[in-house]
Amino acid sequence: MKIGIFDSGLGGLVIAKSIRHAIPDTDILYFGDTLHLPYGNRSFEAIYEYSKRAVEFLFEQDCALIIVACNTVSANALRKLQQEYLPQSPYSDRRILGVVVPTLECAIDKGYKNLGLIATNYTITSNIFEFELQKLDPEITLIQKNTPLLVPLIENDGTEWIPSVLDRYLKPFKQKGIDALILGCTHYPFLKKQIKASLGQGIEVLSQDEIIPDKLTDYLRRHEEIGSKLSMNSEIQFTVSDLTEGYRNAAGQIYGQNIEIKKIDLCPNTNKYRSM
Ligand code: DGL
Repeated sequence: MKIGIFDSGLGGLVIAKSIRHAIPDTDILYFGDTLHLPYGNRSFEAIYEYSKRAVEFLFEQDCALIIVACNTVSANALRKLQQEYLPQSPYSDRRILGVVVPTLECAIDKGYKNLGLIATNYTITSNIFEFELQKLDPEITLIQKNTPLLVPLIENDGTEWIPSVLDRYLKPFKQKGIDALILGCTHYPFLKKQIKASLGQGIEVLSQDEIIPDKLTDYLRRHEEIGSKLSMNSEIQFTVSDLTEGYRNAAGQIYGQNIEIKKIDLCPNTNKYRSM
């Protein structure tokens, strides 16, 4: 069986690459829902329906464990998928994991007291990072800012505008003197260098591509019932729900090398899919 990695689009390829690096032998299947991207401006109902179809596809493709790399899905639909969908589905022995709690645990382990967060509109409005942080350590402060222009600029080859947009978005964090900024969106690790340059000295950057692989390795060590099912042929496959030349180019840039991507048609009415 494989590990599935699910994102609303191509940003999760950064996480896929870092997971690949951490567990090079384990078979991986990536799915990016490019047809419905961006999730970050959508309603809960839409995000839940798209996510359910995506996890069903990954389970049908023999994934034992799904990493929801998308913060927007982790922010809300994930809980319903774990608590309502999974137990009554044919896949109740499989697992779906998100990225919000592992990211906060890492910030706490590093001893930061004043955190900043940038993420999509949906993730910020959901207040999920603050909600989970209160449970883990209520003494730590969190300043949040939605940064909705970044995903469209990354996905649509708009990198030349990013530095000026970043400077505007990050100004409040510099003024308020945080210890570390959480990049709470799959796409932002791609901008890590630019974000560090814009923040300047004294503010650390917490990037999920550096956090999730370690957390996953630790999870697999603790959960032998999942880890022992994974096949080790070093295979990695990439699937998306919509494929254009632009997406192909962006995927190569984000993953850091050319990759073969297959388009999958997730049919809304039947919950079935076919390969194109
Ligand atoms: N994957 C989303 C996230 O991590 C960003 C892209 C989107 O809005 O769909 O929040």
